[in-house]
Amino acid sequence: MGHDFPGDSTIWDDASALDKAHVFHSWSAQGKVHPFEIVSGHGSTLVDGQGREYLDFTSQLVNVNIGYQHPRVIEGIVEQARLMCTLGPGYANLARGRAASLVAKRAPEGFSKVFFTNAGADANENAIRAARQFTGRDKIISSYRSYHGNTGAAIAATGDWRRKPNDYSRGHVHVMTPYLYRSPFFAESEDEECARALEHFEQVLRFEGPDTVAAVLLESIPGTAGVMVPPDGYFEGVREITRKYGILMITDEVMAGFGRTGEWFALDAFDYEPDLITFAKGCNSGYVPAGGVIFSDEVAHAFDERVFPGGLTYSGHPLAMASIVAAQEAMEEEGIVANARRVGEKVIGPGLEDLKLRHRHIGDVRGKGVMWAVEMVSSRDDKHMLDAATMAAIHTKAKESGLLVDVHDNRIHVVPPCVITDDEAKAGIAILDEVLTATGC
Ligand SMILES: Cc1ncc(COP(=O)(O)O)c(C=O)c1O
Repeated sequence: MGHDFPGDSTIWDDASALDKAHVFHSWSAQGKVHPFEIVSGHGSTLVDGQGREYLDFTSQLVNVNIGYQHPRVIEGIVEQARLMCTLGPGYANLARGRAASLVAKRAPEGFSKVFFTNAGADANENAIRAARQFTGRDKIISSYRSYHGNTGAAIAATGDWRRKPNDYSRGHVHVMTPYLYRSPFFAESEDEECARALEHFEQVLRFEGPDTVAAVLLESIPGTAGVMVPPDGYFEGVREITRKYGILMITDEVMAGFGRTGEWFALDAFDYEPDLITFAKGCNSGYVPAGGVIFSDEVAHAFDERVFPGGLTYSGHPLAMASIVAAQEAMEEEGIVANARRVGEKVIGPGLEDLKLRHRHIGDVRGKGVMWAVEMVSSRDDKHMLDAATMAAIHTKAKESGLLVDVHDNRIHVVPPCVITDDEAKAGIAILDEVLTATGC
């Protein structure tokens, strides 16, 4: 069997034409995608097929925390590739053991073991599995304003539009989580929002029957859903309620972890300890696909004698592990997490607030570290979302001006690599300023 594509010889050097002919894209109507070619990058800059440079305020899918082509990570991968490219999960391996140690040490005291996955979705999938096995219960509570990945349980736990065409897993319940700018609880202060969100959470739990609920799964800072930094006391309150009912808490650090918020884990800024932590993206900035679940000792020990019914051919793949080790060591030695915090506090936060003073269609600016959302509205009085055509124009105009930004619904997400310099951050915000003026915002 098999067949030839005779026409391909004419487009063999044309990345866009080959893409159009043969690549099936994520989350898209295939006739409407027009990806442009990227051939290389360095630091916070990407280079396209024509050699044009773009300042990257996206970190691709908010995963390239360490920046592009970090020499240390490349070296780590090459060294491991020379030694041993692939190894099944059942063997011991130095890169794997070291990666697990370096990841687990960023979690609170009492978290020692890591189950490695290929990415974030299967990290959440396996955390959910562990919680269900541990408690003997079924339901998972998560937020409507969330994204947890594109696999069976992870997509059903997701709150955003991507869940609806994929809603085939059972046992998922959603709640409203704090979002003061568009408060679902008619709150006027963070304290009020927090108290009412907790009351709502407990009420849903009671109506569902707490003894049917295995875990609550929450992003430490909802990312794609809009960077809503939870108010002080929210996670602490959720933790108190979950303990009362013997329910586990899974914190999804897939996007917010490893420096993005100016902390190793975003949960470090709050005063609570979950039972399971999921991670991916920033652990090695996606140089090789990787993710995982960090187990609290209590949950891990439950599987000392009993089989954990989950596994993956590439769990702890040596190239991924070597890239985690190198990325973790470089991030530590080069102060990359501290850089993200400082740039956020000194440049990005104040810069975006300044834009808000001068652009009437900016309704809200929120975030921390290198994880920010600028929420665009048609008017600050009614807070109606700015129309899709203007949001698309912002996206296109920014790209034409050499700046890549993420646009989700009515929001511009400003999520550059953690290594971005002050000057680069200022330059990007200056471009955004011009783009907002040019698009009538
Ligand atoms: C918070 C969060 N969890 C999970 C995922 C899924 O990760 P992956 O796409 O690596 O499977 C994402 C991806 O964007 C995410 O942002």
